Amino acid sequence: MNLTPVTLFDRAAGQLGDLCRVAGFPEDGAPVDVLRELLCAAGPRPLSEPPLWPSDVADDATPVEFSLAFDDSGNRAVRILGETLPEQPSPTANIDAARRFLTRMAQRLDLTLDRFHAVEDLFLTDDPQGKFALWFSVILRPGRAPALKVYFNPLVRGVSAAPELVAEALRRLGLGEAYDTVTEYALRRGPADRFSFFALDLDDGPLSRVKLYISHDRAVSDDVEHAARAVDGVDPLRLREFLDLTGGGPGPYAGRPLVSSYSFVEEDAGRPGNYSLYLPIRDYVPDDAVARERTRAHLARAGVDPAGLDRAVRAVTDRCLADGTGLIAHLSLRLGRFGSGTTVYLSSEAYAVAPPRARITTSGQRGAATAAV
Ligand code: TRP
Repeated sequence: MNLTPVTLFDRAAGQLGDLCRVAGFPEDGAPVDVLRELLCAAGPRPLSEPPLWPSDVADDATPVEFSLAFDDSGNRAVRILGETLPEQPSPTANIDAARRFLTRMAQRLDLTLDRFHAVEDLFLTDDPQGKFALWFSVILRPGRAPALKVYFNPLVRGVSAAPELVAEALRRLGLGEAYDTVTEYALRRGPADRFSFFALDLDDGPLSRVKLYISHDRAVSDDVEHAARAVDGVDPLRLREFLDLTGGGPGPYAGRPLVSSYSFVEEDAGRPGNYSLYLPIRDYVPDDAVARERTRAHLARAGVDPAGLDRAVRAVTDRCLADGTGLIAHLSLRLGRFGSGTTVYLSSEAYAVAPPRARITTSGQRGAATAAV
């Protein structure tokens, strides 16, 4: 009998391996090694112990979240969003652990760190505020070495410092004009629109991007359609259609906020090449069975075989989808000249499954499916 307790690494590595198989990767072990390093001290902990740190990567404090990108070109990518946690986590110790992970990855992968070094002093402070300071995303594509992306937190020096922080970071990266574009198109509703992530691709390919994310509290479809107009050639009606199929209509989206992101490459002179919309679908469905239905409807509409979704879901869980909410955490729709597609974010649920939102009330009626404000 094997009494070795299952660890977070065991669980996540099993999920990742299955997801890579679903996405058509040959199994070569490399992604799992990166996952081990990414998880750091959280990995070897038995799942019977509580999470090491209340990571905001996922609702149950699992410090990783998977996603599967369905490019319209037919390509697939598996990604891991993660927070690296040390033995004794704290806001500053977590930054140190994240830096060590980055150093180790730079020895193994072909990373370009100039842009990271150009802005790190802005975002990695001695007294970080907010829910995180540095997250990573590991991007896995068949036949390629893993790529890495870093996420900084614009709120790390407090909410009121965020605009100047983002403006300065963009200036240092030669994208000063991008700030005005983004404020004009996506920051129009006062404190309801705010910067939420500042991300960098850590490679030096021609499409290596700076990505800026904005959260929109209580937004309606019109708000994100306007935001998308910052990108030439994007049809905002695709967003409306996406929200109709996946979120249930034009809003307002009063639960977790809709998020916009813009991608910039250096020669763009302030005009983003891509726009993405993120829907935290888990707040707008009663359970994952409904989230799956809606995701399938959108994929079918986008010309993607929805069977791939079910295989991906089965890679991460064997639970009944109607028994919980949040396995499908977000959906995103990517539009623009760097390539369009849909990404499905899948929670590990290593620590907990959130119960279905709809409940049988005393009168026998099903409760409201939409999240409370
Ligand atoms: N869990 C956080 C949230 O839902 C952060 C996060 C994880 C996130 N994956 C994401 C935010 C995808 C936007 C899109 O806000």
